[in-house]
Amino acid sequence: MSHPSIAHIRKDYMQASLSEVEVGMEPIAFFQKWFSEADKAAVQEVNAMTLATVDTSSRPHARIVLLKGVDDSGFTFFTNYQSAKSREVDSNPHAALVFFWPELERQVRIEGTISKVTAAESDEYYLVRPRGSRLGAWASPQSEPISSRAVLEENEKKFEAQFEGQEIPRPEHWGGYRLQPNRIEFWQGRPSRMHDRICFEMTDNKEWQKFRLAP
Ligand SMILES: Cc1cc2nc3c(=O)[nH]c(=O)nc-3n(C[C@H](O)[C@H](O)[C@H](O)COP(=O)(O)O)c2cc1C
Repeated sequence: MSHPSIAHIRKDYMQASLSEVEVGMEPIAFFQKWFSEADKAAVQEVNAMTLATVDTSSRPHARIVLLKGVDDSGFTFFTNYQSAKSREVDSNPHAALVFFWPELERQVRIEGTISKVTAAESDEYYLVRPRGSRLGAWASPQSEPISSRAVLEENEKKFEAQFEGQEIPRPEHWGGYRLQPNRIEFWQGRPSRMHDRICFEMTDNKEWQKFRLAP
């Protein structure tokens, strides 16, 4: 049974507005501005984003991953290359990302195509991760069914012993992906559901075109 009060949860968004002028013509630069504002506002898990992918039966799947870098080439995250999401991305590179920063009443939706980053980039990030996370990349067959938690813990011990006293190298099955955007929408909550939505789409001649959407 659904909780009777869920339908009554309601919030009016009062903090800010968003104008065409303010957004400018460089959506990545504007994303970076909003990201640093969210970071300054101490948004929880500010770099957590929903990643939506599609499988070979056209079914969508969504989960959170962490943004690890953003520049004009796109939005980077790291994962297991044998995971469900990787199988999906490898068979269909079209994907979407969503950030929700409730403390600022903001959402950013990003759509585009995904490709693997270079091995050198994956190495660079892998080697700054804490040793425990590096071991985890070896120990966890991400997205595979396992019979119990003990399987994971035994794997962890096995690799801990294997790499004792040495640097843990990056497993080939772990690395980065970058989503290169072709659409980015900035959403700012406003009172009475009259929100601001400003959207960018990449034209065929690789220029951003900007328009406002009804909320
Ligand atoms: C806050 C948060 C951050 C996460 N960050 C990552 C990440 O950066 N990379 C990753 O592979 N999984 C991350 N996960 C786990 C994924 O949500 C997911 O469980 C996992 O990647 C397996 O997804 P898949 O089976 O669809 O491939 C995170 C989960 C949460 C809740």
